[in-house]
Amino acid sequence: MVGMISVQQVSMVLVAAGQSVTILDRISFIIPAQQSVAIVGPSGSGKSTLLGLMAGLDQPTSGAITLDGTDITTMTESRMAQFRREKIGYIFQSFHLIPTLTAVENVAVPLELNGEKRAGERAAELLSSVGLSDRMGHYPVQLSGGEQQRVAVARAFACRPPILLADEPTGNLDSATGAQVVELLLSLHRDHGTTLVLVTHDVALATSMQRVLALRDGRVESDTLPSSGETTDRPAHDTFINNPRYTAEHPTSELSSRFRS
Ligand SMILES: Nc1ncnc2c1ncn2[C@@H]1O[C@H](COP(=O)(O)OP(=O)(O)OP(=O)(O)O)[C@@H](O)[C@H]1O
Ligand SMILES: [Mg+2]
Repeated sequence: MVGMISVQQVSMVLVAAGQSVTILDRISFIIPAQQSVAIVGPSGSGKSTLLGLMAGLDQPTSGAITLDGTDITTMTESRMAQFRREKIGYIFQSFHLIPTLTAVENVAVPLELNGEKRAGERAAELLSSVGLSDRMGHYPVQLSGGEQQRVAVARAFACRPPILLADEPTGNLDSATGAQVVELLLSLHRDHGTTLVLVTHDVALATSMQRVLALRDGRVESDTLPSSGETTDRPAHDTFINNPRYTAEHPTSELSSRFRS
């Protein structure tokens, strides 16, 4: 099985203060298309490093990573940039919006890079779908953390990539605001069959994913299916949605149905 994401014998060794440090140690796993996966583990266990490698933001010291059947570890930088726009939406813990662009302009960037003619219009639709129709012209500094993260999710999903990667997407948000962002990610996963991989420290969030990969000292410590036996058919999201901590005000289906238009 190739899977949507395949990580084979991936190691990452970096040199810091004259010493080489093994950050990831021969990690292997396969994520099938449409699976939702949480990557958990203590601080410093290599979660962000691994996610960055899966997005081709960095190259591993050894090993191979394939996305949708294509080996990204041998790609040139410019080919990778194009490939990333087609295949991957990436969401950072700290939003990473462009401060000199408004919300709608931020969302339009990947669309314009992909040659979309109605980029502005489509960006506006996407922002409405995350409940920000009245914040189009706001600059990031004029938006709350939760609003910025919703802009970041709209931007990551603008070109409808088959893979969404999120590094602690709720790490900088209070639980109610975080719930809205998570609901949005889950709805994209459920309604569009997007493969979703997110790094989190939140146990409730992690176990609402179909699969949990736990890292420790750069190795996979465990690989579990919290809702095992009923993995892909029954949405693991039920666990999440029925969790009072994550009951947000906005019905998910409404949000994501507008992504379809
Ligand atoms: N450029 C670098 N040079 C040397 N060491 C690095 C570099 N980047 C990260 N590290 C080290 O690699 C290890 C893994 O870092 P990483 O950011 O992947 O951890 P993490 O699991 O995401 O942690 P956290 O939960 O705190 O975000 C850490 O010990 C970190 O200090
Ligand atoms: Mg990290």
